[in-house]
Amino acid sequence: MVDRRAFLKTSLLGASALALAGRVSADVAAPASKAVAAKVISTWDFGVAANRAAWAVLDKGGHALDAVETGVQVPEADLKNHSVGRAGYPDRDGRVTLDASIMDADGNCGAVAALEHIAHPILVARRVMERTPHVLLVGDGALQFALEQGFKKEELLTPESEKAWHEWLKTAHYQPSANSEVRDYGKTGLPGGHDNHDTIGMLALDAQGRLAGACTTSGMAWKLHGRVGDSPIIGAGLYVDGEIGAATSTGVGEEVIRNAGSFLVVELMRQGRTPQEACHEAVMRIVKRRPDAAKDLQVGFLAMNRHGDVGAWAIQPGFSYAVCDAQRQDTLLPAKSVY
Ligand code: GLY
Repeated sequence: MVDRRAFLKTSLLGASALALAGRVSADVAAPASKAVAAKVISTWDFGVAANRAAWAVLDKGGHALDAVETGVQVPEADLKNHSVGRAGYPDRDGRVTLDASIMDADGNCGAVAALEHIAHPILVARRVMERTPHVLLVGDGALQFALEQGFKKEELLTPESEKAWHEWLKTAHYQPSANSEVRDYGKTGLPGGHDNHDTIGMLALDAQGRLAGACTTSGMAWKLHGRVGDSPIIGAGLYVDGEIGAATSTGVGEEVIRNAGSFLVVELMRQGRTPQEACHEAVMRIVKRRPDAAKDLQVGFLAMNRHGDVGAWAIQPGFSYAVCDAQRQDTLLPAKSVY
């Protein structure tokens, strides 16, 4: 039997050790059960229209998971959007390969990577979450699963994307190589930058206090076939913890994966950082680890805690995020940046 005095002493020692180890958040609790103010946020200017669709779900008292799944389908279907979904630019070989993930507040998650021929990868990601014992399906296996689930096989390479690919083949600014030093993106092709921005990451808090997130992209244009970015990697492009908050990322996925970016943001919030402080610290982690590379690329983080407080930070200027709640519809805000 445990001696009560010994138990108390051990517990107190444990608490002091935690306090000495750093900032410890006292604000870790079960998700709020009372009604809260619903909110949805998402990356980039195309997040405005996506938020509107998600808000239609939240405003009716819908689930955060349904809201993010509905919202991100807007840019996935947008034929003018060349970094997400159907009209995404192809890889070096002219193949459109899509990545997506979805996660709820209880740690349920699903993802697909390098998926071809399916216009809404987010819907397949949710099926992976709900109808398989797995988290991530890739390539041909992901396509096989999607077809088994009744999704339609389509050609996703639009004439416009094909034209851009042929143009790129002529100039080939970016030759994917194991040696990252040979990259030459040109002024307008900064990876993850304004003219080559990517990824819708969306986070929602519903009126029941439930958080959820979704992330979907065609990845880096002209990538090597088979390249997978951060978006379908749980903990990199997306992470949700109902006790703390949620985070998502945009930009050069390789740098986000190296730092388990979205997980890092959520863990920093667990330690007491605000969403804004957590995003800043995660961005600085990338910059400090690879200062030479970081000045030529873009990574942005977006976070929301379980109370609906929001933060964002990026390496380069130009990253914007859309916010939608009962007070603010169609709001686009600039994120702070390192440079
Ligand atoms: N952030 C998207 C990607 O790197 O694929």
